[in-house]
Amino acid sequence: MAILVTGGAGYIGSHTVAELLARGKEVVVVDNLQQGHREAVIGGTLEVGDLRDADFMAEVFRKHKVEAVIHFAASSLVGVSMKEPGEYYHNNVYGTLCLLEAMHKAGVNNIVFSSTAATYGEPEQVPIKETDRTQPTNTYGETKLAMERMMHWYDVAHGVKYVSLRYFNAAGAHASGRIGEDHSPETHLIPLVLQVALGQREQISIFGGDYATPDGTCVRDYIHVSDLADAHLRALGRLLDGGESAVYNLGNGRGFSVREVIEVAREVTGHPIPSVLLDRRGGDPAVLVASADRARTELGWIPQQPELRDIIASAWQWHSAHPHGYRG
Ligand SMILES: NC(=O)c1ccc[n+]([C@@H]2O[C@H](COP(=O)([O-])OP(=O)(O)OC[C@H]3O[C@@H](n4cnc5c(N)ncnc54)[C@H](O)[C@@H]3O)[C@@H](O)[C@H]2O)c1
Repeated sequence: MAILVTGGAGYIGSHTVAELLARGKEVVVVDNLQQGHREAVIGGTLEVGDLRDADFMAEVFRKHKVEAVIHFAASSLVGVSMKEPGEYYHNNVYGTLCLLEAMHKAGVNNIVFSSTAATYGEPEQVPIKETDRTQPTNTYGETKLAMERMMHWYDVAHGVKYVSLRYFNAAGAHASGRIGEDHSPETHLIPLVLQVALGQREQISIFGGDYATPDGTCVRDYIHVSDLADAHLRALGRLLDGGESAVYNLGNGRGFSVREVIEVAREVTGHPIPSVLLDRRGGDPAVLVASADRARTELGWIPQQPELRDIIASAWQWHSAHPHGYRG
C-alpha cells in the first residue's frame, strides 16, 4: 500500500517523501510542477498532473493502491493571494475538494494536511494554542482554514479522518545535501538572507525596527524541514492506528527576531550580510510563535533541530552547494 504525497516535488513535500522512503514506505507523488522540481523527488513514483483534473486523479487512485494521503499541494504566497484571491480559492479550496472527492470514490479515508498558522490571523496570545480564535488576515490563510473545514465535513459525512498541521516557517535542508529549498520567487527570510551571502542580492531589508520586541524587529517561529517531515509521519501514524481527526500546531515554542536571523547567518556564512532598516509593512504582527504542547503530548513530536544556528547552517549547506537551486 502506498502513501500518496500531493505537492511531493515541492520543498516540504520532497523532504517528507525522503523520510517516508527512509522508513521503507511505498510513495506516489502527485505534483503539477508549477513550483516543484522533478529532481526533488528522490524515489517512489512521480505522477505529473493537477489535483483539479478529476480524470487524472481517478487514474492515479486506480493505478496505485493508496493507503493514505499527505496533502502539501497548494499555492502559498500571501502577497499574491491578496491580489489574486480567485487563483487561491481555485487551487487551494477547489483543488482540495477534487482531492477529497477522488479519495472518497477510491475509498481512501486518511489524510494529513499541511495547513498553516496563518489560519489564526492576528494572535490573541503567544505562544498560539490550537484552541485560539481563527481569523485569517489574508486570503492564503482563509483558504487553508476553508480546506480544514472541508475535511471536517468529509469526516462527518464520509468518515474521512484528517490531521491538520499548522505551522509558520519551514527552514533548513535534508542532511544528505540532495534536496533543499528552491522557491521561485523566494519570499522566506532565511533563504533571502543567504542570497545576500551568495552575492545574489545586495542587502537584506528589515521591515520595522520599532516593534515591542527585545531588539525592535519582528519575532517569528522557524522549524527545521526535517522536523516538519517527522511530524507529518507521526500524524500519519496516528491515522493509520485508527486515531480520530485532530489539529496540531507545530511550533518552536520560542521565536527568533529578524536581527537574530541575520546575525546568526553572518556567523554561519562569514559574510557581512549588509542590511537596511525600512518602515514597517502593513499587517505584520510583532510576534508569531506557536505552542507545540499538544503535538508533543499526543504525537510525541519533539523537534530535533530547534536551534537557529543549526537550522541556518543546514540551509547554508544546501544553498552554498546549489546557489541556483535545482538548476545548479
Ligand atoms: N514553506 C513554509 O514555510 C510553509 C509554512 C506553513 C505551511 N506551509 C504549507 O506547506 C505546503 C508546502 O509548502 P512548500 O513551501 O513546500 O511549498 P512548495 O510550493 O514548494 O510545494 C507545493 C507543491 O505543490 C505543487 N502544487 C501546487 N498546486 C498543485 C496542484 N493544483 N496540483 C498538483 N500539484 C500542485 C507545486 O508544484 C509544489 O511542488 C503548502 O501547502 C504550504 O501552504 C508551508
